Amino acid sequence: MDYKKKVAELISAEVELEIEKIEQLIEIPPRPEMGDYAFPCFQLSKTMRKAPNMIAEELKEKLNKEGFEKIENLGPYINFFADKSIFAKNAIEKVLAEGDNYGSSNIGEGKTVCVEYSSPNIAKPFHVGHLFTTAIGHSLYKMFKKEGYNAVGINHLGDWGTQFGKLISAYHRWIDEEALEEDPIKELLRIYVKFHDEAEKDPTLEDEGRAYFKALEDGDKDAEALWKRFRDLSLKEFERVYNILGVEFDSYAGEAFYNDKMDVVVDKLKDKELLVESNGAQVVMLEDYNMPPCIVLKGDGASIYATRDLAAAMYRKKTYDFYKSIYVVGTPQALHFKQVFKVLELAGNEWAKDCVHVGFGLVKFADRKLSTRKGEVILLDDLLRESVEKTLEIINEKNPDLENKEEVAKKIGVGAVVFTYLKNSREKDIVFDWKEILSFEGETGPYVQYSYARAKSILRRAGEIKGEPNYSKLNSKEEFELVKTLENFNKYILISLDKLEPSVLTRYVIEVAKDFNKFYNAHSVLNLEDEELKIARIKLVEATCQVIKNGLELIGIEVVEKM
Ligand code: ARG
Repeated sequence: MDYKKKVAELISAEVELEIEKIEQLIEIPPRPEMGDYAFPCFQLSKTMRKAPNMIAEELKEKLNKEGFEKIENLGPYINFFADKSIFAKNAIEKVLAEGDNYGSSNIGEGKTVCVEYSSPNIAKPFHVGHLFTTAIGHSLYKMFKKEGYNAVGINHLGDWGTQFGKLISAYHRWIDEEALEEDPIKELLRIYVKFHDEAEKDPTLEDEGRAYFKALEDGDKDAEALWKRFRDLSLKEFERVYNILGVEFDSYAGEAFYNDKMDVVVDKLKDKELLVESNGAQVVMLEDYNMPPCIVLKGDGASIYATRDLAAAMYRKKTYDFYKSIYVVGTPQALHFKQVFKVLELAGNEWAKDCVHVGFGLVKFADRKLSTRKGEVILLDDLLRESVEKTLEIINEKNPDLENKEEVAKKIGVGAVVFTYLKNSREKDIVFDWKEILSFEGETGPYVQYSYARAKSILRRAGEIKGEPNYSKLNSKEEFELVKTLENFNKYILISLDKLEPSVLTRYVIEVAKDFNKFYNAHSVLNLEDEELKIARIKLVEATCQVIKNGLELIGIEVVEKM
């Protein structure tokens, strides 16, 4: 039985409101003294022409109390206190029966959501900033899938633009082929930085770069072959990082993919008489919307970043017929997306309203800034490696005899970094502090992982279970709080999706671990005479493991059985 449904059914028998509407109105009270579910009577007061307090007062008397410990009213709210033993039995059995599927629903059935994330620029390092979009986007992607949506993960690679003309020019002048094979991105970055330094002294270099890009756009075979080589070498590097993170995409259609799809955009804008000339460029004026013009074609007729985004949006609509199209890209690009979405709307695409930019903050290290131009970036690779090494040191100290130490350190170390990115609201900046990130206490990945491993070890020691649980014996405060938290899993996934904010789910997983530790610190699981209670508690531990596993999975972190 689903308690929330039961509450809705009870109310709907007494009032004139659709049951779905009632379900939407039901709230989870912030404090246990306020019950397990609350129904606000404000809405009813309009149709019933009575004060909400009075409605609550009268209505609570009429409701059938079976299955509830009590039903009270507090001002305009009716508070429902579930019968703890029925609630616990329902919740735990549901988790265990649904297993890896627990938390899923079919609310997304028939709806396609495009989620664009990561989208690094080729020939540039994959740095610590890229993990923000990668982790947030991948987590949203997984959650959408879990809730029945058809999710399409897209990596909009930055593989087109004038910088590739510059790179080709730099290649012809300064490439060290051996270094290119050995560490492609490092060598490409070296010649790219050199190009900029030299261009400061000799501005004709810029013209050469532009000419090479023009050649590339016009399909010059040599230029194309070089570009393809840069792209392949870069992708190999990126895929290595994606493998470490367990991140996947359904499409790698990057900017270059739209090279032959931009005429349609330009024609459509011309058709709608939206294009005007400004300083030689073709732009869409947006001053009515308090935005600078959106440049569509540069003076030399070349496309730019925004043109490719317009083409990409239209292509995605045509190909996937999305219900929503999400762009997980840093907040500094917020204006760019506002402009692009507005131009789409002005061009008569009513679906422009379904395009959403999901922004996020910066990654900071004390005294270190991130910028590719000067080549002083912190590679994600290095950050992850450092995290795994440090984790291994901690394991060597705490549990030197652990089997598969390297394997475990990898999962915990990588997970700790990912967890840090997803822990706070995405608009907030991250300030990196190893001590905090790798701590086994506090709100960290290792803390959650450790709680899981601890729970797993209880289950191993419990061995095979003979006999039946009696859930009515799980009546302590700690047990009930944990059960309630486990029961709320799906709700938190839905909030995460609604706000496009994986931190909601990350914080939920922390809550599960905290509630579990409170329970385990207060109550014995295995050292019990009462078999019925013991089995009920073992089942509760088993359900906890399942929820932590499913929750971490959705934020892209793998659990370990022992640590
Ligand atoms: N490659 C771009 C960058 O690194 C991000 C691309 C964002 N996505 C988009 N559709 N514009 O800044």
